[in-house]
Amino acid sequence: MLDPGIDAGGGPTLRIRKDVPLAPLTTLGVGGAARFFAVVKDEARLAEALAFARRAGVPVFALGGGSNLVVSDGGFAGMVVKMAIPGIEPDAERPGRVSVGAGVEWDEFVRYCVRRGLAGVEALSGIPGSVGGAPVQNIGAYGQEVGDAIACVYACDVATGEVVRLGRRACAFGYRSSVFNGGGRGRRIVTRVVFDLAPGGAPVLGYAELQRLFAQRPAPTLRQVREAVLGLRKAKGMLRDPDDPDSRSAGSFFKNPVIAPGEFGALEEDARRRGVLAPQEAVPHFAAPGGGVKLSAAWLIEHAGFHKGHRRGRAGISRKHALALVNGGGATAGEVLGLARAIQAGVRAAFGVELDIEPVVV
Ligand code: EPU
Repeated sequence: MLDPGIDAGGGPTLRIRKDVPLAPLTTLGVGGAARFFAVVKDEARLAEALAFARRAGVPVFALGGGSNLVVSDGGFAGMVVKMAIPGIEPDAERPGRVSVGAGVEWDEFVRYCVRRGLAGVEALSGIPGSVGGAPVQNIGAYGQEVGDAIACVYACDVATGEVVRLGRRACAFGYRSSVFNGGGRGRRIVTRVVFDLAPGGAPVLGYAELQRLFAQRPAPTLRQVREAVLGLRKAKGMLRDPDDPDSRSAGSFFKNPVIAPGEFGALEEDARRRGVLAPQEAVPHFAAPGGGVKLSAAWLIEHAGFHKGHRRGRAGISRKHALALVNGGGATAGEVLGLARAIQAGVRAAFGVELDIEPVVV
């Protein structure tokens, strides 16, 4: 598998390998190989890798922690750059401002912040993946979203190799969305993220599950909230753990759907008419920013007849959370995506709601 290396033409340190299997570099563990592959440790080497891909006339895909990714069985007929830019650098002039390389493991950065009393990302403890991936889908959990803690993002323009700076507003953060994954997907590669955290700030208890845990323990510390979140995630199989087969997933496989407020009553009525919902049963729902109604995808999936632990070939649903699809061992991308389509069809038939796939499919 190790290629002696193709000279990328730009210096001795960038090694480009050929036909590198991608499954082991993802948490779900499915899919084929990358035609070209390079580990990139700084911006200059990234520019070299991009120039190589341009000369070869192939597309580029930036790989972070591989935790939100489904690689197709055919692999990727282009250049995969594994982002490994290191460094957690606090700004000496500005307390709370920290610049972090895209290759730093996300939870290592959270641990760093919690240890130093920097508030703003503690509820995002235990999310697998890298710092570079965090702004792309605007990771969120337990009442926090990373976009709210970001000052700016440095990203490399794939077409030119130039690094540009995008302020928080230019990043256009929304629910699991940003300028990096919408229509502009693939145009830029995040190289560095600058955070604005609150030194000595208090943790935010913005999620019912967390509030319940701390009902008898007022004013918890950042460390206590981090421990609580790690516990919740572990119980849901959402903590990366080689000993937990339910964690061999890409996290939530679907987004929580948001519908217009006027549609909700009809949805419940239709579900009762179809016999999916008992006469007294209600569909859980939450107010979404912008006035919409957010539904729980996990709840819809279970009530459409797909239970925790459901199996379809070597793919399945986690035994701990209905929103996570798992690789039960040796699954193909086709099996996982086939199960995803079956779930989408089931939820559509039961509730008339469309579930959007959350991870990136390559
Ligand atoms: N529920 C079920 N069955 C289940 C699990 C949950 O019916 O197996 C229902 C319950 O009614 C529960 C509700 O779903 O009250 C919400 O469940 P949960 O608190 O686990 O949150 P979620 O909406 O399923 C979202 C994020 C997670 C994040 C948690 C906690 C999305 C797509 N997912 O899940 O993020 O960790 O909230 O904040 O928004 C991810 O994006 O990969 C991810 C793991």
